[in-house]
This record gives sequence, C-alpha cells and structure tokens, in this order.
Amino acid sequence: MEVFKTIKSLQQSLKGLSQNKTVGLVPTMGALHEGHLSIIDRAKMENDIVIASIFVNPTQFDKKEDLVNYPSTLESDLKALEKRGCDFVFTPTTEEIYQGDTVAESFDFKGLDKEMEGKFRTGHFDGVATIVKKLFMITSPNKAYFGEKDFQQLQIIKHMVKSEGINIDIVPVEIFRELDGLAMSSRNTRLNEAQRKAAPEIYQTLLKGKKLFQQGDLEKVKSFVKNELIQNKELSLEYFEITDNESLKPVKILDPSTSYRAFIAVFAGDVRLIDNIALN
Ligand code: PAF
Repeated sequence: MEVFKTIKSLQQSLKGLSQNKTVGLVPTMGALHEGHLSIIDRAKMENDIVIASIFVNPTQFDKKEDLVNYPSTLESDLKALEKRGCDFVFTPTTEEIYQGDTVAESFDFKGLDKEMEGKFRTGHFDGVATIVKKLFMITSPNKAYFGEKDFQQLQIIKHMVKSEGINIDIVPVEIFRELDGLAMSSRNTRLNEAQRKAAPEIYQTLLKGKKLFQQGDLEKVKSFVKNELIQNKELSLEYFEITDNESLKPVKILDPSTSYRAFIAVFAGDVRLIDNIALN
C-alpha cells in the first residue's frame, strides 16, 4: 500500500498504471470502522486499484467544535487499510486541497439540500460536494463508493455528478451496523457508556416505525417515533422525516409505486447520530 500526501505524487502513480486498470475511490474522513472497511472490500472486488482518501474536510462543518472534535486515528486507519488490501491512500493537508482558499463552491442541488441535514447544517452539502468534486478531479476513478447511512449526501453526489457531466459511477453501499443495530459511525466512539447503551434504540424505533408504515398512516408513524424517543432520557430527537428516495421531500400522500425512506437525527449528549431505513 502506498500513502500519498500530495496531489502530484498520487497523480504520478496513477499515470503509471496501465490504461486498462480500473480505479475505485473510497472517500473518507478517517477514524475508520468496519463500515468503511466493508466499503473497501466491495471496492476491491469491483476494481483493479482501490484508493482511499482520508481528509477531514473543513468546509463541510458548520460548527467549529465538530471539526475540532472530529476523531483522528491515522496510524490505525493506515494499518486497517493495509490489512484490507487497499492500494493507495491519499492523506492531503487542507493547504494541499484548498491552496489557501478554504471555501466551498456553491451548487444548485435543486432542493435536495433543503431538507433534513441541510436544514440543520447550513452549507454542509456545498462543502461535501466541493471536496468530492475535487477528489474526483484529482483521482479520476471509474467508480466511487458512498455509504447509505448518509443517504441524502449520496443523492446529492449523484445529482452533482449528473449536472456537472462527470463520468464516474456512484456506487451506494448498504449501512453497516453493530450487532445491536446501531449504524456504524466514527462518532460512536464519542458516546459514553449510558449513551452507547441507549443508542441502538434509534434503529429499533426505525424498525417499529417501518412496521407501522405498512398501515399507511404517516402521522401515526411520526408520533410513534417522537413518543418512543422522548421516553429515552439519553436521546433527544432532532428530526424524523419520511420522504421519497428521489426528491427527499417530506411525503404527504403515499403513492404505491414510489420508494420511501425514513430519516432520523438524534442527539446523545452532544453527539449527533443519524440513521435511515428503506420503508417499502
Ligand atoms: O461521508 C463522509 O465521510 C464525507 O462527507 C466525505 C464523503 C468523505 C466528504 O468529506
């Protein structure tokens, strides 16, 4: 496995690959867990060369303390990536990526960024799309992999690629969960014992909500989820939404031919956890 800190050195090695080799990119912000590593495994199966990027992107953080508190475990990340057979790792500095101009580009996501995460994290998706586009330009992969835990991010990246005419296959990867159902996240390491014990209730509530959804009463599902979480003193609900998969707009009337998903954001202390589930 080779580790690159500069764009130039990474591109030189990529140029040295024979033309017919396929490249898969797995963008990350480090603090890798089994969820990330399962994405590496998937990318390994589908490409000749796998690049993981590790870069904590400042322009996607709306709160400075989140950026400062973001866990950094570079040494163990590199060991884990090597063990999983990752070929290249790109670990640039902020200066290398932004060249002294650490600002996000403005995108028109046609409203995909206006709901849920977008409502609570101003400018977040412009920051995400900015770094993802830069990584795409630097590495020119055939495929790029994104976890469905950040489903809104995934849809926004798909939209960005289409609207900018970027020829890269965006591959969604299913949410990877702990044995108790908690969606894997780098933030889980910041939970204290009581919060960690409480956190699986997020997914349990989504599963119960999914069952209720089959009865077709959206308001019943919403009030059920609110009531369930109110009873857990370690968790506080930020939002729960049911949307269709494509527009990500909260649904009002159900259409049997449309695919729906439920999305949730919950605070455990100051740790913000998100999750989502396919409903039909
Ligand atoms: O999902 C993430 O970890 C980040 O948003 C990403 C895609 C690596 C961009 O910084």
